[in-house]
Amino acid sequence: MESNNGKIPSIGFGTSTGIVNPEELERAIDTAIAVGYRHIDTAFIYGTEKVIGQTLQKWFKSGKLKREEIFITTKLPVMGTHQDRVDSFIQRSLSNLQLDYVDLYLVHFPVGAKSGSNNLPLRDEQGHLFLEPKTDHAAIWKKMEAQLDAGRARSIGLSNYNISQIQTVLKSARSAPSCLQVELHAYLQQRELVHFCHQNGITVVAFSPLGAPDHNKRMKGYFAQYEERPLPDILGNAVIGRIGEKHGKSAAQVALRFLVQLGVVPIPKSMNPGRIKENFDVFDFELDGEDMERMAELEMGERARVSDFLNIFKGVEHHPDYPFGKL
Ligand SMILES: NC(=O)c1ccc[n+]([C@@H]2O[C@H](COP(=O)([O-])OP(=O)(O)OC[C@H]3O[C@@H](n4cnc5c(N)ncnc54)[C@H](OP(=O)(O)O)[C@@H]3O)[C@@H](O)[C@H]2O)c1
Repeated sequence: MESNNGKIPSIGFGTSTGIVNPEELERAIDTAIAVGYRHIDTAFIYGTEKVIGQTLQKWFKSGKLKREEIFITTKLPVMGTHQDRVDSFIQRSLSNLQLDYVDLYLVHFPVGAKSGSNNLPLRDEQGHLFLEPKTDHAAIWKKMEAQLDAGRARSIGLSNYNISQIQTVLKSARSAPSCLQVELHAYLQQRELVHFCHQNGITVVAFSPLGAPDHNKRMKGYFAQYEERPLPDILGNAVIGRIGEKHGKSAAQVALRFLVQLGVVPIPKSMNPGRIKENFDVFDFELDGEDMERMAELEMGERARVSDFLNIFKGVEHHPDYPFGKL
């Protein structure tokens, strides 16, 4: 798929696992690479960069994979959403990943917070973050562009930004963002945002493309006081199930194929070898016009959003740069 700064493989492998089990993650990455994924999504805050780096080194040394054959995305954490911290965080990510450059570096979230001692944001006893008062989007973007100049990132982009925040970045940008990564699935289709991005040459990457059924468990791994929330049951949806029966495919494959046909890039996460393979096997069938209409009707809007960050970044909704619920 083409973007402002080149190509990105049309499906990726998500690696947000909550508590990291290094052996399990290495096995999952091995399976993903073996079945054909050439795009891995990580983030400083997931704590998965080191295992990904070690696993990639093993593949590079074996001669079975070259650096230029795999697309690696990582992200500036919320503690780095400040113009003075972009350089140091990308350098830490590159060191974790044992790479000279990443293919895509994203600002993970448009609000900044102070760092704790554990590579996670600092919190008070009630779990509230110590937020930076205001985000200077233009200044941060300038530092992101400097990563292109320094050769540390081949392309740069944003995650969890809304249209008005992307417009702010576009106004001052020397290099426009090549990608926006946002939550996007059958129940939260983000049509206006996708249309805006596509008009501006920005590739949309869909996180939680299956509705993140493990979201509550995973968030508890990051933050023990996390309060569980109801989750959308995309994989149990009867309409998706019937479309799957028609094509001899699973609900997950239909949910992913739908996104591919909308022109967005899904990055499903699985630690299970069978499901890793299943999620990649979505290029030998096509949803017809009627299937696409039935899928479009599943849209639920904001109430289907899983990652509103309210339970994990307590107090963030009062910040002027909180991105959701605004245009
Ligand atoms: N930028 C951001 O703020 C942000 C936020 C969230 C996520 N992300 C990225 O997006 C990636 C994917 O999103 P996600 O992990 O939230 O959710 P997801 O990919 O929608 O869902 C993952 C869950 O679905 C299960 N699953 C995977 N394939 C399946 C299949 N074929 N059938 C049934 N169940 C299946 C997995 O279980 P098993 O592992 O047991 O298969 C796991 O519990 C993340 O890993 C991360 O890289 C980015």
